[in-house]
Amino acid sequence: MNTDQIVRTFTDWFRERGHEPVNGGTLLPSPSDPVLFTTSGMHPLTPYLEGRPHPQGRRLISLQRCLRTTDLDEVGDRTHLTVFEMLGSWSLGDYGHSQSLRWGYELLRGGFGIPPGRMYVTVFGGDDEVGPDIESLDTWRELGLPVEPTRDENWWSHDPVGLCGPDSEIFVWTGDPGTPPQGTPTSDPRWVEVWNHVSMRYRRESDGSLQPLQRPGIDTGMGLERLVTVLQGHNSVYDSDLFEPWTRLLPPLWNLDETSTRLVCDHLRSGIVVIGDGVRPSNAGRGYVLRRLIRRVLTTLWRDDPSRTLSDLPDELLRHTLDHFRQPLGTGPVREVLLDEERRFDRLLERGRRVLGRPEFNGPLSDEDYHYLHDTHGLPRELVTTLRTP
Ligand code: ALA
Repeated sequence: MNTDQIVRTFTDWFRERGHEPVNGGTLLPSPSDPVLFTTSGMHPLTPYLEGRPHPQGRRLISLQRCLRTTDLDEVGDRTHLTVFEMLGSWSLGDYGHSQSLRWGYELLRGGFGIPPGRMYVTVFGGDDEVGPDIESLDTWRELGLPVEPTRDENWWSHDPVGLCGPDSEIFVWTGDPGTPPQGTPTSDPRWVEVWNHVSMRYRRESDGSLQPLQRPGIDTGMGLERLVTVLQGHNSVYDSDLFEPWTRLLPPLWNLDETSTRLVCDHLRSGIVVIGDGVRPSNAGRGYVLRRLIRRVLTTLWRDDPSRTLSDLPDELLRHTLDHFRQPLGTGPVREVLLDEERRFDRLLERGRRVLGRPEFNGPLSDEDYHYLHDTHGLPRELVTTLRTP
């Protein structure tokens, strides 16, 4: 199955069971939300999980793009991405956890063809505050799947204060298909988590107390890229069809090591989406995240060849990304933003080299030096460090 077929299978499955697709779109949360970017599928639905009636009913699904900067240092490995998408399903006070788990199991088995022998689940085993999640335990036992109870790994919360509850995660075996699965989800990394089902039934108050919600709900989330990678039998998300044009067109253009190629693919693809959602590079907030993504790409490209330029980026990559994320912006305006940022960064580097070449900056730099370089010459600390690295 290719990515489009996988998304359609998920959507059709839940529509047949009475779910309405909500507009999972832009990375930008509503203006009243202080967070920079949407970080999970449930994020835009928080008020409805807290009890407000949703205009589309009590059974919902979405495909929501998300951006996380917490994992930036991991990008370049096989799995971490800056922008990713989440398939989600919700029951707003409608069906319960057991039904959600059953449908989850049936879809993975019947819809996506994952044999039950390659699945393992974890459930909340209880802690000092809340007892074990017996409902999930019983459901999985009836369905015949192996269960591993845990504590912290199966308690979901978005923030220290707010919605939370016990969750149950479905793992799929990604080891050699010829040998039987081994170990458990917490002891063998070849068990990969694909789908989290949260029983959203508490609210953590600012005084630390746990209050039961008047109308408990179900919140599930499945990372699309991870699901695609597992279903297509790949080891790395970059080998899936999601990155097909990137991994075909970038290596002949810029000869980089594997980690750098992945980083450049991820950051450029993420940068394009962020631009498509209306953000422009700046020195604060969302614009600064975008600026860092583009400048990290340029730093990587220029490390061993300063003549490399984003003008060489094939149009197909811009087109593919904007189409995939259903963004109407043309490739021309996106390219302009990228090239404008390239020019600004180039000029800043030139100035930085000139200033840092002065004799007073030859030795170790004090905090006062860093402040001066930043405030007077617009050179951030991390850039100064890069420029001074031989
Ligand atoms: N909100 C849950 C998660 O992000 C489903 O894992």
